[in-house]
Amino acid sequence: MVDKLSINDNRTGKKHELSLLHGTHVNAGSAISAKDLRDIKTSEKDFGVLVHDPGFMNTSACKSSITFIDGDSGVLLYRGYPIEELASKSTYLEVAYLLLHGELPDESEYDLWNADITNHTFLNEKIKKFLDGFRYDAHPMGILVSSLASLSTFYPKSRNVHDPKIRARSIRRLIAKIPTLAAFAYRYSVGLPYAYPDNDLSYSANFLNMMFRTTDTKYQPDPVLERVLDVLLILHADHEQNCSTSAMRAVASSDADPYVSVSAATAGLYGPLHGGANERVLEMLAEIGTVKKVGSYIEKVKQGEFRLMGFGHRVYKNFDPRAKILKNLASQVFEVTGKNKFLDIALELEKIALNDEYFIKRKLYPNVDFYSGIIYRAMGIPVEMFPVLFAIARTSGWLSHWEEMRNDPELRIARPRQIYTGYPDRGYVNMDSRKLKKIY
Ligand code: CMC
Repeated sequence: MVDKLSINDNRTGKKHELSLLHGTHVNAGSAISAKDLRDIKTSEKDFGVLVHDPGFMNTSACKSSITFIDGDSGVLLYRGYPIEELASKSTYLEVAYLLLHGELPDESEYDLWNADITNHTFLNEKIKKFLDGFRYDAHPMGILVSSLASLSTFYPKSRNVHDPKIRARSIRRLIAKIPTLAAFAYRYSVGLPYAYPDNDLSYSANFLNMMFRTTDTKYQPDPVLERVLDVLLILHADHEQNCSTSAMRAVASSDADPYVSVSAATAGLYGPLHGGANERVLEMLAEIGTVKKVGSYIEKVKQGEFRLMGFGHRVYKNFDPRAKILKNLASQVFEVTGKNKFLDIALELEKIALNDEYFIKRKLYPNVDFYSGIIYRAMGIPVEMFPVLFAIARTSGWLSHWEEMRNDPELRIARPRQIYTGYPDRGYVNMDSRKLKKIY
């Protein structure tokens, strides 16, 4: 196979040969180096050709060996392992280790890793004073974004991002502390006293403990719900170069410390088109209210009044494998918690949408957020906490990308270019000669 792509420049009659770069999976695609396009110019002074790609629809920003998605076949692999197997056989902390280190841990590696994470679950008490400054009804995602950034001031050494040992410590701290911060954010927003970590519990059980413990001296969650939460965390742990991970990479490319970088990634996740979608799915189901109203709601979506939240994906154009796993998980949860009306509305919505020409033509399928919200709700987790849970899970993914990026010889500060569409050079106009423009 000739690994070159030829481009004929009709402006100059020149033929340019561009080298192709290939991924390791058969469906990973190939890329040309955007920098090579700069050599395609009409004169020495010409800037050269740029790639114009708003929203990065078709741009590879880095080489990565962490996660692979084949959107047409509904395949998701973490370090080569299918998500279905990890979700049925692993724990979240095992998967976090896999994402970060590239291999599943053996027993002793896992015990050490578990102990390491458990060691760091407590927060500096001063964080509580910081949280006290928020309004009583502050959204926990806003609290999380700010308190994550504030950790940077507690651990100033983390600014040395070139030291692998310091990076490793920051990674452990972040994975360990984010559930505590998240649970504190929730307890603050509902006026409950903070519940401290219980390091005898698993990662997921401890989170439920910090959310829900009241007068019990020892909190023990239902084992089914503990496992379901762990699986939810596994499913959300990484998703290659999505909006929040790209934010993490962009911010950290300036050598910013990991706490402010994870905070920036969390902010990216907050939006309703990304991690905030699960919150909106529940609002949507509540607004629909009954199974009977699903048809008329879908009509409004087709008229373009609003989007069907929890549907569609930039990459998955067949099905989202995470949504399939979650649909099965939902039935396990409802066996413990009893059914709620949202599931029936969601099932009807899915049935109608999947048979409707509008959704078929646009390849719109339920995504991970469609069922996760219903499950969280059944588990008693308040709607505002849904994106927070997404952030807890995705922290291991963000940090894996950060660590990979720090070791990447191709690392440069993220700095995209643009096609300038403003005025060409023009002369300065003094104030007394400026025409009044009505701008209000
Ligand atoms: N409901 C109705 N129509 C939709 C939807 C939807 N959820 N999503 C896309 N479309 C239509 C869109 O209007 C457009 O139609 P047309 O070609 O007639 O203009 C077409 O499908 C393509 O949409 P797009 O906006 O170009 O697609 P995108 O790849 O830029 O956006 C998306 C992907 C996830 C932002 C979008 O599908 C969406 O807004 N979904 C709802 C929000 C949601 O569930 N987000 C969670 C994503 S999964 C979790 C995560 O990884 O973050």
